[in-house]
Amino acid sequence: MPGVRLGARLLDPDSDGDRDACQSFDFGSGEALEEVRRWITEWLWDSTPGPRGETILVEDLDLGHLVGFGTWRHRELSVGDHTETVIYIAWFGVDDAYQGRRTEEDRSIASTLFDTLEARARAHPSSTDDMCLMLEVHTDNTRARGFWEHLGFEYLDTVVVPVNERYRRMIRGAPMDGG
Ligand SMILES: CC(C)(COP(=O)(O)OP(=O)(O)OC[C@H]1O[C@@H](n2cnc3c(N)ncnc32)[C@H](O)[C@@H]1OP(=O)(O)O)[C@@H](O)C(=O)NCCC(=O)NCCS
Repeated sequence: MPGVRLGARLLDPDSDGDRDACQSFDFGSGEALEEVRRWITEWLWDSTPGPRGETILVEDLDLGHLVGFGTWRHRELSVGDHTETVIYIAWFGVDDAYQGRRTEEDRSIASTLFDTLEARARAHPSSTDDMCLMLEVHTDNTRARGFWEHLGFEYLDTVVVPVNERYRRMIRGAPMDGG
């Protein structure tokens, strides 16, 4: 299968066109994946949302299909009596039809999307070079756990949210070379 020619852009939360385009996202079956779908198709667009953060979309430039998205925001992370601001990857997904696929540069779409998201988050004026990245991944989501570990994320702790759903919090420091 040929590599995908990817383009990345910021989602506009006030755009009806972006909202309509996002309705096609499908990440596969399973409760945790359904939540990812509901974020990008419904919750992000609610008129009284919580923090929306910033969302990057990647698209297949030849077919005009949305391929994936990632949403990040700053968040306070408390561990014991230590609190710090981290770059929180709130939501992230590659569409079912594009999972496991590669770009025309022969890189995985998922890692390319992640790199774009991290670069964007680190370029934010309120970010600092030493900020950690943090995310929560459902304990049953083995595919995503493997992906995050591959990118250098490490287990931090487990949080239980209603109704008895377990998420592993994972964290990764800033790159050693600062780049
Ligand atoms: C999780 C998700 C983003 C991963 O994307 P993907 O397209 O399935 O990932 P790929 O299989 O192409 O793998 C991407 C990279 O991770 C690596 N990887 C994936 N699983 C791995 C594992 N178990 N062990 C080691 N490396 C792994 C691949 O080798 C590849 O590496 P590369 O970029 O260096 O080539 C995608 O499956 C997805 O969106 N799932 C549904 C939504 C979801 O779970 N979101 C995350 C919520 S926390």
